[in-house]
Amino acid sequence: MKLNNKVVLVTGANSGIGFAASLQFAKQKSKVIALDLSAEINPELAKKLSSLNAQYSYFSCDVSDFSQVKEVFGKILQQFGHLDILVNNAGILGPRQKTEDYPEDDFDKIVDVNIKGVYYFMKVALAHFSERKQGVIVNTASVAGSLGMAGHIAYSASKHAVMGMTKTAAIEYAKLGIRINAVCPGFTQTSMLDHADADPQYKEMIRYSTPMKRFGEAGEIADAILFLASDRSTFITGQGIILDGGLSVQ
Ligand SMILES: NC(=O)c1ccc[n+]([C@@H]2O[C@H](COP(=O)([O-])OP(=O)(O)OC[C@H]3O[C@@H](n4cnc5c(N)ncnc54)[C@H](O)[C@@H]3O)[C@@H](O)[C@H]2O)c1
Repeated sequence: MKLNNKVVLVTGANSGIGFAASLQFAKQKSKVIALDLSAEINPELAKKLSSLNAQYSYFSCDVSDFSQVKEVFGKILQQFGHLDILVNNAGILGPRQKTEDYPEDDFDKIVDVNIKGVYYFMKVALAHFSERKQGVIVNTASVAGSLGMAGHIAYSASKHAVMGMTKTAAIEYAKLGIRINAVCPGFTQTSMLDHADADPQYKEMIRYSTPMKRFGEAGEIADAILFLASDRSTFITGQGIILDGGLSVQ
């Protein structure tokens, strides 16, 4: 895949899909910049990256705060000289509530993290990629970026927005050879799903609604992220790859 020596920034790297993607880039000998909310890298991720002899760094940043995003991006360029690949993956789900009961504060928070957070990192990365006339972005959207998701009005709205931003930026930057795509997972076994399914019956219901009758694995989503980030997908831009065990084709 020729990802060796590529400088890759993965947001939301401490858990789930971002964790799996960070490890897979490290296995391809990429230089991994893991970024997440907490002050320290997840020790399990650090252990696994070290055991791969990976060259990596960790940055703490709230993606929904543009001043932090600008500051961290400046530090990354100082330390690594440039960035090749941005995996814009950090995201939150929020509570499950009918639209009329959905709390405004949660709606705002989801907009801040899932839409503005993705936009802020696209903004700083695309300014840098434009100067270099190269670069790749993979955003983590969701099947909820093209389908409704009962109980999750803000989340579904936010992932539709991620697809809109992916398509718009793809058109704007295509002439420069900068590609912007998205992965659109269905229900995937991560801590996000664990929080969503405090009610075991709900978990069973969503598993059953997937034709493959299982949840996706974070590594399966990471495989598609690496494909879209690599030279195996050089004519693909503005697309969302759906990985959902058949959920959306019923
Ligand atoms: N798990 C699923 O079923 C599923 C399905 C479709 C899409 N997704 C998307 O995949 C992405 C990754 O989610 P996951 O399933 O791995 O969940 P996860 O909760 O395991 O990981 C999300 C990570 O994002 C980080 N994060 C959250 N808010 C942040 C912020 N403000 N700044 C920086 N980091 C922040 C968290 O700390 C966490 O490490 C999300 O965008 C999510 O919406 C997940």
